[in-house]
Amino acid sequence: MNILLLGGGGREHALAWKMAASPLTSRLFCAPGNAGIAREAECVDLDIADHEAVIGFCRDQHVDFVVVGPEGPLCAGIVDDLEAAGIKAFGPNRAAAQLEGSKGFTKDLCRANGIPTAAYERFRAADQAKAYVRARGAPIVVKADGLAAGKGVVVAQTPAEAEAAIDMIFGGDLSGAGAELVVEEFLGGEEASFFALCDGDVALPLASAQDHKRAFDGDKGPNTGGMGAYSPTSLVDPAMRDRVMAEIVQPTLRAMKKIGAPYKGVLYAGLMMTAEGPKLIEYNVRFGDPECQVLMLRLQSDLIPALLASRDGLLKSIDLRWLPNAALTVVMAAKGYPGRYAKDSVIENLEAAAAVEGVEIFHAGTRQDGRRILANGGRVLNVSALGTDIVQARDRAYQAVARINWPEGFCRHDIGRRAIEREKNKIAGRATGFGS
Ligand code: AMP
Ligand code: GLY
Repeated sequence: MNILLLGGGGREHALAWKMAASPLTSRLFCAPGNAGIAREAECVDLDIADHEAVIGFCRDQHVDFVVVGPEGPLCAGIVDDLEAAGIKAFGPNRAAAQLEGSKGFTKDLCRANGIPTAAYERFRAADQAKAYVRARGAPIVVKADGLAAGKGVVVAQTPAEAEAAIDMIFGGDLSGAGAELVVEEFLGGEEASFFALCDGDVALPLASAQDHKRAFDGDKGPNTGGMGAYSPTSLVDPAMRDRVMAEIVQPTLRAMKKIGAPYKGVLYAGLMMTAEGPKLIEYNVRFGDPECQVLMLRLQSDLIPALLASRDGLLKSIDLRWLPNAALTVVMAAKGYPGRYAKDSVIENLEAAAAVEGVEIFHAGTRQDGRRILANGGRVLNVSALGTDIVQARDRAYQAVARINWPEGFCRHDIGRRAIEREKNKIAGRATGFGS
C-alpha cells in the first residue's frame, strides 16, 4: 500500500525507518520529512496545516493510509478531514485529540472518572488563579490550557514565580493556548512515559520508556521536548503496567467512548511515579519524541498492521513482539536549545558514527545541501543504539556521538544513568540478600 507520513522530526524518522521495512509498504511518502527521512521515504514539500492540499496529494498519489506524527494536525482535525474524504488515517480525530489539546478537558475527565492525577482548578481570570496559588502555597504548577509547544508549563518554586507564570499565560505570550489555565498540585517522584495503542475500545500497551526532559546533565536547566530516552524501564514492570492500564488508560478509553469521542491512535500517558502510586501528569495523543525512537528499535513485529488495526477497531487480534534488548537514544541539539539557536551549521562524520555496532542515527532537524547535512532545528539528531542491556546500549550510543563532528551541537552525557544505578543497586541488593 501507499503510505503518507506527516511530520519531520526524529519520531517520524524512526516511524519511516520501521514502515519502510514492512513488506506491506509499496510507496512511502513523508511531508515535510528531513534529510534522514529522505533515505527511507519520498519527501514531499506539502504544508500539512493545509488539509485540502494533503487530501489532494493523497488522491493524486493513490495514498491508502496516512500516519500522523505530531499533535498539531491531530488537534486541528486532519484525521476527520482525511476520513471524510475517504482516506484512512491513523490517529485520534479532533474530539479525541482534546486529551492533549486541552489540559482542562483531561483534568475534568480524570476527576469525573476517578483517574489518579494532581489536584487542580481551572481558571479564566488572573485574580482568581493568583488567589488559589496564595491559598495553596508553593511548589505549585501552572499550565496553559492549550497546545503551547512545550512552553505552557511552569513548575513554580515560589508563589511569586507562579503568579508571574499566570501573568505570562494570560498576557498573550502563548496566543490561543493561554485563554485558560490550570493550576495544579506539585507531584514528587520519577517520571515515566507510558504508551498504549488504542482502537476506541481496546488498548494494547507498548514497551515502557523513560525520557530526560531537562536540557543539561543531572536533570538541570530548562525543560525541553526530551534530551534522550531508553526502553525498557524498571519503573514500569509488568505489575505496574497492569496497574496503569487498569487505573488510568482503560478508564480513559471508557470515558472517551461514553462522551462520544472514542479514542483511536497512540495514547501517551506522562506519569509521575509517586509514593501513592502512578499519577497522570498529562496525556499526549501521539508517540513521544524521542521515546518513539527507542520503541521502534525494539519492536520486532510489523508496525503497519498494528496502526491499521487501531484505525479499523481490530486491535484485539494484534499481538506485538518486542526484542528483549535495551535501546537508548541520545539527542544532539543545537547550542542554545531550547532557547535561541542558529541553523545551517555543518554536521560531519555521520556515516562513521552509524557504523558502530547496534547504532541507528535518526535525524530530527536536518536538511540536505548538496552532499552536506546541515542542522535545521533545535533537536537535530537522535543517536540511538540497541544493546544486550542498557549499559551496552548507552556505551554504543555515546561511542557514535563521539565520532560525530558538529562543534555547534551539544548533548547530555548522562542519558540512562539513573536507570543504570537502579539496576546496579538491584544486583547489589540481591547479592547481599536485601532489596527486591
Ligand atoms: P507537561 O507538558 O504537562 O508534561 O509538563 C511538562 C513537565 O512539567 C512534565 O514532564 C513534568 O516534568 C513537569 N510537571 C508537569 N506537571 C507537574 C506536576 N503536577 N508536578 C510536578 N511536575 C510537573
Ligand atoms: N518526549 C516528550 C514528548 O514527546 O512530549
